Amino acid sequence: MDEDARVADAGDVHEGETLLFTVRDADGELAEAFCTRLSDGTVVAYRNYCQHWTDVRLDKGDGARVTNGEVWCRKHGATFQLDTGVCDFGPCEGSVMESVDVTVADGGMYLNDEEYALEHLGPSGVDGGDGGDSRIDFTGN
Ligand code: FES
Repeated sequence: MDEDARVADAGDVHEGETLLFTVRDADGELAEAFCTRLSDGTVVAYRNYCQHWTDVRLDKGDGARVTNGEVWCRKHGATFQLDTGVCDFGPCEGSVMESVDVTVADGGMYLNDEEYALEHLGPSGVDGGDGGDSRIDFTGN
């Protein structure tokens, strides 16, 4: 595998939590993604934004909330199945998270998506790290 695409040691990707990393797309724009491990040991990754309000990050840098194989959006409570990416509850029910292709090999987890190049492990630092998630919704949250 290309060591420039090595995101993390595979042993650092755990079930029940997310690991945030930053990629660069073909236009040179930075984007965030998170990876996690499913109960069957499979490692999956998705772009780090909610399908409801796309400026809301699921992992705000301290790990997303993950329970029972689902990642939660802390803004309005949408839940997304981590094995399929499908939102099964919330205002964006039926939508699908944007997957990012990753591969586990040689003890590492590698970005393996021709749309992206690995930038670094951790947040992008764009928008001061809050991802522009400063809107106030109708509930005042
Ligand atoms: S912004 Fe995620 S559920 Fe509304």
